[in-house]
Amino acid sequence: MTTTISPETTYNLAFAEDVRKGLTSEPKYLLSRYFYDEIGDQLFQKIMALPEYYPTRCEYQIFQQHGQGLLRKMEGNPFDLVELGAGDGLKTRVLMAQFLAQKAEFAYLPIDISSHVLELLQKSLHEAWPDLSVTPIEGEYFAALQSIGQLSERQKLVLFLGSNLGNMNQEKAVDFLGQLRKKLQPGDYLLVGFDLKKDPEIILAAYNDSQGVTRDFNLNLLRRMNRELGANFDLSAFRHWPSYNPLTGDMKSYLVSEKAQRVKLEALEMEVAFRKWEAIDMELSKKYDRPEIEWLAEVAGFEVEDWFYDEKQYFADVLFRAI
Ligand code: TRP
Repeated sequence: MTTTISPETTYNLAFAEDVRKGLTSEPKYLLSRYFYDEIGDQLFQKIMALPEYYPTRCEYQIFQQHGQGLLRKMEGNPFDLVELGAGDGLKTRVLMAQFLAQKAEFAYLPIDISSHVLELLQKSLHEAWPDLSVTPIEGEYFAALQSIGQLSERQKLVLFLGSNLGNMNQEKAVDFLGQLRKKLQPGDYLLVGFDLKKDPEIILAAYNDSQGVTRDFNLNLLRRMNRELGANFDLSAFRHWPSYNPLTGDMKSYLVSEKAQRVKLEALEMEVAFRKWEAIDMELSKKYDRPEIEWLAEVAGFEVEDWFYDEKQYFADVLFRAI
């Protein structure tokens, strides 16, 4: 007899195991990928619309202003536009609209671990542009890139947008870009989003908004554990504590336990003790400057081909060329 594990079950198991690991580590941590359940998705939509949260709007502006400049780099060759972590593809749409207006010959290959997200994306793209070739690929980035390499020989423009890379520490970022480079051919392009070092007040405010949406977003992960793992976190006993280090560019978010307390997690048959003022490490969103970006490109086997900025130069989408 075979047992089939539904994707949800596998996912919950992974969630449970990652929580066990994180909450038994010293210091304690939780993985930011688990922020995005249904409520988390809604809260993140709200974050993106906040006056303080500038990154999404900046990248929008970059695409509006530099979409054609980016397309010129493809020199009229047909190409595959590959997106790592496509989500709702809203930003990419701005790019593709310009590519299509220039009659560029390209296919769009969004990669995501959520088949649900990909279905929605394909449907809405088909409605907007029935002639656009869209090939969604469900899976982990590198496996998906491997299969794309076998599908077509065309030049690639790979998108890794937003704060995706910023959510990795330096070691992970180097490793990730190096692995990505191995899936590409010399001359392929990679466009990477980097949030830049700027006035620390502006950065901190983006993760500490006045309406408390970011606080709720962080606390929502505790709520999610209450619901999905039978935990009993008291949300009012944890404080959202964002902190920006202008030297390293690390924008960190923590939840700090305001008292000594014990939390039960039934699904893990476990109880976790918090000391008074003990913190959980929730999120990193690293901010970069130019020399660091150049260094990163070089160690990973790329050269920097071009820099695309928004008007305030808060954010950069940097075009890496595989060498
Ligand atoms: N990771 C994204 C970023 O770095 C989204 C985000 C914004 C976020 N605020 C957050 C993630 C607070 C966790 C906690 O911008």
